[in-house]
Amino acid sequence: MALKITVIGTGYLGATHAAAMAELGFEVLGLDVVPEKIEMLQRGEVPMYEPGLEELLRKHVAGIEGSSGRLRFTMDFAEAAAFGDVHFVCVNTPQKHGEYACDMSYVDAAFASLAPHLTGPALVVGKSTVPVGSADRLARTLTELAPAGEEVELAWNPEFLREGFAVQDTLHPDRIVAGIRSERAEKLLREVYATPLSEGTPFVVTDFPTAELVKTAANSFLATKISFINAMAEVCEAGGGDVVKLAEAIGHDDRIGKKFLRAGIGFGGGCLPKDIRAFMARAGELGADQALTFLREIDSINMRRRGQMVEMTREALGGSSFLGKRIAVLGATFKPDSDDVRDSPALNVAGQIHLQGGQVTVYDPKGMENARRLFPTLGYAETAVDAVRGAHAVLHLTEWREFRELDPAALGEVATDRVVLDGRNALDPAVWRAAGWTYRAMGRPTA
Ligand code: UDX
Repeated sequence: MALKITVIGTGYLGATHAAAMAELGFEVLGLDVVPEKIEMLQRGEVPMYEPGLEELLRKHVAGIEGSSGRLRFTMDFAEAAAFGDVHFVCVNTPQKHGEYACDMSYVDAAFASLAPHLTGPALVVGKSTVPVGSADRLARTLTELAPAGEEVELAWNPEFLREGFAVQDTLHPDRIVAGIRSERAEKLLREVYATPLSEGTPFVVTDFPTAELVKTAANSFLATKISFINAMAEVCEAGGGDVVKLAEAIGHDDRIGKKFLRAGIGFGGGCLPKDIRAFMARAGELGADQALTFLREIDSINMRRRGQMVEMTREALGGSSFLGKRIAVLGATFKPDSDDVRDSPALNVAGQIHLQGGQVTVYDPKGMENARRLFPTLGYAETAVDAVRGAHAVLHLTEWREFRELDPAALGEVATDRVVLDGRNALDPAVWRAAGWTYRAMGRPTA
């Protein structure tokens, strides 16, 4: 008989995972403790913007016309425990307030709520990003709290999905990492992932600590790549080089590769910044802090780029103050094709300029609602053209396709001054300059 799957926590990761499991043919029950989220999902609505996710959900949520009916939702842990053979824990692990360490309270609560209802054999699979050592501890919690005792097992199976590509990354992952302690656990995970495995996705079997570390190591490496190229941008700014050409040239070496070498205002979002900090905090607890002190520098380089963007803008506006200056900010989300504004470099820059007296007007294709909630005091416009109207400078801070397709000549008609600063190195300088704009970018000559 086909496995039945539960997904605990229906945020970014969980909602996508639940829909993907239904797509792979399993009966799925998603659980969340937030009633509004469950109500939305039951109507086939997704609480965030993620390309393709709503369609996938509507294809499977029970009660929606024409759906497979394989996906249902609940708030009841007893129901989830009775339903599932495999329980995926997908709750979030944010940064602790005022500390670098990761807040494990949602993970702990999920295990504590589920375990007492597990009266028969089950595999609990952790997907959340956690500090190394957590799985070992949680495995003990499970055996202690579950009436079925040793029949309940844990596996750790980190998730590498990118926002904006969540559906594709979940259905066709580039690797599956399985931290397991028994053949039974491996067999069950292979059954769950039979479809991607049949497509040739590598299946890497590890112990618990390695599985946990793979995720934080991967994110640390990606953050390091970005900060590396941003450090080169700083040197280019000082020495007159062009970081975009430099990235292109070093990227031809396939040991280095082209990806994740886009210099600009740096990384943000709900993962990279908090994951490298939690990794440093955990290494400290383990007495291995020296091994990760370089991540402190990665973090500093990254945060410095936001300040540099503010200074470049000040300079472009004449060098003194932002008072009386109107600044258009194109982009609010931490990356394109997402409505996520968590730790967004774009909003950080907008906020800094606003706090220094500039009149900032923000436009973003999908992030307006979330941006307004986080920074209600900034100005907002309904379109890019409206944001640019009357502006003394235009800041391009999130590389949405819509912004690359803007007509610089038409924008020039409505702007007060034709000054554009590209914080993502994604606009075509030649096109903007031809339309009479002063184009400046990070790590590139002013020309
Ligand atoms: C990341 C990891 O990529 C993913 O594997 C993990 O599961 C979760 O964290 P995500 O947060 O969706 O995914 O975003 P990602 O595409 O990694 O981008 C992170 C940030 O880096 C964005 O703010 C992006 O604008 C920035 N970035 C990325 C750069 O500044 N330059 C680059 O070259 C690449």
